[in-house]
Amino acid sequence: MGSDKGILTGKKILLGVTGGIAVYKAVELVRLFKGLGAAVRVVMTENACQFVTPLTFQAISGEKVLTDLFDPASELAIGHIELARWADVLVVAPATANTIAKIAHGIADDYLTTVVVAATCKVLVCPAMNTKMYQNPVTQNNLELLKGYGYCVIGPGKGELACGDKGPGRLEDLEIIAEHVISALTQKSLEGKRVLVTAGPTWEAFDPVRFFTNPSSGKMGYAMAKIAWRRGADVTLVSGPTWLDAPHGVKCKKVKSAEEMCDAVVAEYGDTDIVVMAAAVSDYRPKHFTPSKIKKGEDDVVLEMIRNPDILKKLGSAKVHQILVGFAAETDELIENAREKLVSKNLDMIVANDVSAPQAGFRCDTNIVKILYKSGEIEELPCMSKEDLASEIWDRIENL
Ligand code: C5P
Repeated sequence: MGSDKGILTGKKILLGVTGGIAVYKAVELVRLFKGLGAAVRVVMTENACQFVTPLTFQAISGEKVLTDLFDPASELAIGHIELARWADVLVVAPATANTIAKIAHGIADDYLTTVVVAATCKVLVCPAMNTKMYQNPVTQNNLELLKGYGYCVIGPGKGELACGDKGPGRLEDLEIIAEHVISALTQKSLEGKRVLVTAGPTWEAFDPVRFFTNPSSGKMGYAMAKIAWRRGADVTLVSGPTWLDAPHGVKCKKVKSAEEMCDAVVAEYGDTDIVVMAAAVSDYRPKHFTPSKIKKGEDDVVLEMIRNPDILKKLGSAKVHQILVGFAAETDELIENAREKLVSKNLDMIVANDVSAPQAGFRCDTNIVKILYKSGEIEELPCMSKEDLASEIWDRIENL
């Protein structure tokens, strides 16, 4: 989330808070939304006010909290219909079984449920309640009804609950709720597309505890996968070993060696519309793998290396309808080398970066790239975060 700071600037989030113990987490949710740049207004049910006072939400949101439909002062400040119109997205978190039931049946008997009925924006409902209440068929049916009406139900998470029970019922992780809010506010320009992204380094082992690799962090590929999911794509991420968590909503297949990565990518290729090869695949691997740890001796050791499959080249020569995007990490002759790869691997686009430049390449949070197209055009982009760069690259892929 840290890298998404300001991403919701200019967006308006209406948070509906209902009366469960998870209300205290909703306070943090307001902070999270504000950190992403959004304007936040809060509506609380009467029961929610028993857990945390409206004053807390007012202090954090910087706006008057709305609780009473018949309070003339509130209605004068902003009417409930006007508030429903104001919101770009409405998030009910935590959503109790009671409020879920009311929304599912169109009951509008307090400020929040009235605004929900009046809202035309996307509504995200985040259930939080005791496991038995959640599993009750009536609640389950109500949630199905909500989904059928086009509401987005997020969570609940599983784990230990405030009442001591274990199971589903926890308010979903706040970062996941925020990820869904970002997705709800993102244009679905990749809806219906199957996207395959590779990321990270590969490990080429020569004994059980040693291997050749490179310093790729995987950040660029993970950012590409995350933005594609937000834009509505069905995303598979084939990742070499990294320390990163898989982006929410993305199917992640973990591999180690180039050969494993090749098998995983080839298995997906036929059904894929767009491939983004951001992995730093090792070009060579040790010819022999010694099953036990190699012991040190007095003599020097010579290891013979053999070529790994060039995955992208293989995809390029088997290309039918797919769009292929490669990355070129170079230390010299950037444009010449990238152009040669674009042509020899039959790519539609290649993103070239000089990994010896400061603020670019391996491990950095920023990157400076030039984009080369099949048409011969070259586009130079300024230094930016890998997340912002991922959005810029996707804009260009969509234009292809
Ligand atoms: O030839 P080079 O390794 O510089 O090409 C870089 C591009 O090709 C990257 O997109 C990388 O993911 C991909 N590649 C590959 N298989 C390899 C080496 C690189 O798919 N064995």
